[in-house]
Amino acid sequence: MNTNNYGKDGWTPELMNSQSGKTFVITGTTSGTGFEAARILLSKGAKVVMLNRNVKKSEETIKTLQQQLGNKIDVSYIQMDLAEQASVKNAAEEVLKCITHIDALICNAAIAQVPTQNITRDGWESQIGVNHFGHFTLQALLYPIIEKSKGRIVTVGSMGYNMGIKTIKFDDLNWDKDYTGNNAYSQSKLAQIMSVYELQNRLEKVGKSDVKIYACHPGSSRTSLIDTSGSLMMRLMFGLMKLSPFTQSAEKGAYPQLMCATEEKLDQKGFYGPTGRSYWTGPVGAHHLELHAKDKTVSKRLWDLSEKETGLKWNFN
Ligand SMILES: NC(=O)c1ccc[n+]([C@@H]2O[C@H](COP(=O)([O-])OP(=O)(O)OC[C@H]3O[C@@H](n4cnc5c(N)ncnc54)[C@H](OP(=O)(O)O)[C@@H]3O)[C@@H](O)[C@H]2O)c1
Repeated sequence: MNTNNYGKDGWTPELMNSQSGKTFVITGTTSGTGFEAARILLSKGAKVVMLNRNVKKSEETIKTLQQQLGNKIDVSYIQMDLAEQASVKNAAEEVLKCITHIDALICNAAIAQVPTQNITRDGWESQIGVNHFGHFTLQALLYPIIEKSKGRIVTVGSMGYNMGIKTIKFDDLNWDKDYTGNNAYSQSKLAQIMSVYELQNRLEKVGKSDVKIYACHPGSSRTSLIDTSGSLMMRLMFGLMKLSPFTQSAEKGAYPQLMCATEEKLDQKGFYGPTGRSYWTGPVGAHHLELHAKDKTVSKRLWDLSEKETGLKWNFN
């Protein structure tokens, strides 16, 4: 059911006020929805700190943004590879040195549909390592400043959360037995989404209501995602799909994360994305989330496991 409160066009950046004086930290802005989110926030006067793995691409991104928006924009980057916990920790340290305030941390970066099982330096299957554990650590380390700022954490998930097994494969998290790129991607996105609602539960329990945590997804958007990490077959398939009306622009794909990062009085319990057919395209708003993504027993176990795996205990005090 479309529970859109924003009219027939859904939420669009036209509804976003000036973001002057606000600071946003975004992962993965060298292309796709992250680039568009950075561009739109900068166009509204915000300060944007981009966390990207590729230095050259980051510099080119700044140049492109300046060409489009002028040299006065307040944009910078810090190098961070989500595939390496040491890099995430260094980047978080740099962020804390550079800024004292975060209105929203947007966890946007990801890899997807990696055709063969790759193990990160820290010992995890690459998609859960980058998408979930990388962001889990980043969030834990930046949480104190986000809390102080009464800010938000926005996680960019995927409808893929519902396209693999409907739980976390605790007995074989790395898919040693039966790896497929799709199953591993789906699990990583499910893990990211479950962590949003688990963090909300934990904050609620300790009476913290100033920080807001949101889950969203970009539908089916024409970005570099599959080209960067998918197999030749997936690239061909998505290449064809990009020509069809079942996909939308990267800009539209950025609207859900922008809404979650800026819109006032947005219900944290919701799940936000395009509300059209299959939730791939269409007006942006809240829409149905399958119950398994909010399973409290699994989410709690995942959270405890994530703290153990990353060695990071969240400090809510
Ligand atoms: N496009 C879709 O249809 C779709 C559908 C569902 C969900 N999503 C989600 O949307 C989000 C944005 O993806 P996108 O579609 O915009 O893809 P994209 O164009 O490939 O952008 C992904 C960004 O993540 C960065 N990244 C990848 N691995 C990284 C790492 N190890 N450390 C730091 N940054 C890294 C990429 O940097 P490089 O330039 O260095 O590669 C790039 O900036 C992702 O969370 C994805 O799961 C997309």
